[in-house]
Amino acid sequence: MPTIRAIAQIGEPVLREPTREVSREQLETPEFQRFIDDLIATMHHARGAGLAANQVFEPVQVCAIEVRDNPRYPYKPNIPLTVLINPQLTPIGDETFENFEGCLSVPNLRGVVRRHAHLRVQALNRHGEPLDFETRGITAGTFQHEVDHLRGKLFVDRVEDPTTLCTWDAFGRYHEAAFRERVKQVVARWGS
Ligand code: NI
Repeated sequence: MPTIRAIAQIGEPVLREPTREVSREQLETPEFQRFIDDLIATMHHARGAGLAANQVFEPVQVCAIEVRDNPRYPYKPNIPLTVLINPQLTPIGDETFENFEGCLSVPNLRGVVRRHAHLRVQALNRHGEPLDFETRGITAGTFQHEVDHLRGKLFVDRVEDPTTLCTWDAFGRYHEAAFRERVKQVVARWGS
């Protein structure tokens, strides 16, 4: 049975320190595979759209992403479960969009962050096999948020206009309707 791990909250140094690359030898060990299972189980338990290893106090380059009709983010297009080891993101083109983000490590705060709309993702999967694919739109925003964690960055660092910062309750009351319309436009443009 996987273990639900504690999630580091903003102010914990582990969220700000660089993470280590994972070697193939380390990745293959049963301990490391169990850690990946814990990361996924903790993401599911917290209803996150993604979770980075340093958010559960393991400073290694691993993140998990999955969106399946998530009640925390009801407007997000679904993303199949994806585990990235040593991910590298490369923007394709220069189109960006404004995303309203939240984070399991930043309690009860959301804010507007500008994200690349189209990316190339290169990583290993949990079995050490190379991944190389493109991601677009709202889904691309989720990938950038998680890989930012592995670089010691939080979404609040990227909020250009601090007046967009709000609680989850205020988001629902004042911003969600407009943001859902924006999400529809991004999905219409990019397919996700
Ligand atoms: Ni986060």
